[in-house]
Amino acid sequence: MSSVRRNPVLLFSVLLVVVSVSAFVEELDDSFLETRGADDIWLIKFYAPWCSFCKQLDPVWHQIGSELKSLGSPINVGKSDATVSKGLAKEFKVRGYPLIVMLKKDVRYFYSGPRTKDGIMDFANRVGGPLIRPLNSLQLFQHAMNRHDVMFVYVGATSQLKGNYTSAAEELIIHTFFFSSSRDVLPKAVSLPSLPAVVVFKDGTFFTFDEERDGDLKSWINRERFPNFFRIDSYTLYAMGDSGKLVVLALLEDSRVSEDSLRYKSLVEKVSSDHRDVYGRSFHFGFMEDSSYIEGLVMGDVIMPSVIVVNLSNDGYFLPEGAVETERHLLDFLNGILDGTVQCQGGNGVLQRVRRFVYDIRVSLMLLFRHAPVFGCFLVGFPFAMVTVFFYLCCKNRPTTSDDDDNDSVTPSLQRHSRLADKKSD
Ligand SMILES: *[C@@H]1O[C@H](CO)[C@@H](O)[C@H](O)[C@H]1NC(C)=O
Ligand SMILES: *[C@@H]1O[C@H](CO)[C@@H](O)[C@H](O)[C@H]1NC(C)=O
Repeated sequence: MSSVRRNPVLLFSVLLVVVSVSAFVEELDDSFLETRGADDIWLIKFYAPWCSFCKQLDPVWHQIGSELKSLGSPINVGKSDATVSKGLAKEFKVRGYPLIVMLKKDVRYFYSGPRTKDGIMDFANRVGGPLIRPLNSLQLFQHAMNRHDVMFVYVGATSQLKGNYTSAAEELIIHTFFFSSSRDVLPKAVSLPSLPAVVVFKDGTFFTFDEERDGDLKSWINRERFPNFFRIDSYTLYAMGDSGKLVVLALLEDSRVSEDSLRYKSLVEKVSSDHRDVYGRSFHFGFMEDSSYIEGLVMGDVIMPSVIVVNLSNDGYFLPEGAVETERHLLDFLNGILDGTVQCQGGNGVLQRVRRFVYDIRVSLMLLFRHAPVFGCFLVGFPFAMVTVFFYLCCKNRPTTSDDDDNDSVTPSLQRHSRLADKKSD
């Protein structure tokens, strides 16, 4: 710091950096909605000064602002203190912090993924770009194929299906990309029964949407937007809740890769690809390396590695009775879930919610004790101490009140006490 002070050029450049860094992110107030251009695209973070998650996000937000600017992106990056610019916060229905939202024309897209630079940048680039991206050459198609694990493509001319595809994209662009193409651009190997068609490319193969079999287009896209078998984190698992499918999870130890872990992983992966026709409609498949979400769901420790099936619509879960050693065991387990012979545990009944509430408090306290034992003792000890003092005072006062009625029964110590009190009141 002293070298900065001594060197005016250095000081100037430091100031320049500070000024230019803050210029990447604009502070927005209540006048924002009137003054912004109608076609401007904004990525906005709503925060509160006291919110620690918001503070953690600050450096990420600056990085995002500077990166988008240096890429020449049309996306503007802003932030707004929701406790000061209350009008704007109300307009965006801000309830929790930080709230990340993208405003494109008059449509708002709320971000719910992990609060990392990569996660937010992906979201911004996807939502900020065209709603449906045209793939006009085989080269573009192949480039897109290399970049996306799951890819939806509309093939054909304008039609009612195209209208449905567009309205699905308006809602689901927060989750996945939407493309369009023409029949002659796609590789010859992609055979389509008829046009127009909506095709999803994933897991090295493709499927065509069939209204009769698959129902509503938007729900189908919502179900199919996940790869057949992949690494699932708690955000993804939460997002899968909308699809209405159950999720088959191989739970793996994240610290070390044991032979057992690998066996579970490849077993679930094998069933997901070999028996896709039978189970693909009812189940998602994946593996999870962080057990904390599942421990919260089960409200206890889980055996690792193992298999669990989760019903996200009702927080229910299914556990196999014994160890899952072979493919047959896993198939029997899945069949049992489908025909109702394997009992669903957990759920979101009143009793379960109370249990979950108690469990969450216990886990929070345990975490607190592990990371800040002194503060934990204080937090738990303080109310106990208060209650103890309260009862002590009550008990102590009771004989003192009775000594007005019956002076003889007063013990010497209390007499001393009341005499002391008399002296004080003099
Ligand atoms: C397309 O949209 C129309 C009108 O909203 C609806 O009636 C129809 O069921 C939709 N079709 C599909 C396949 O989603
Ligand atoms: C999952 O939960 C939903 C909502 O409660 C329920 O309708 C559905 O039957 C459950 N699925 C299974 C397989 O238990």
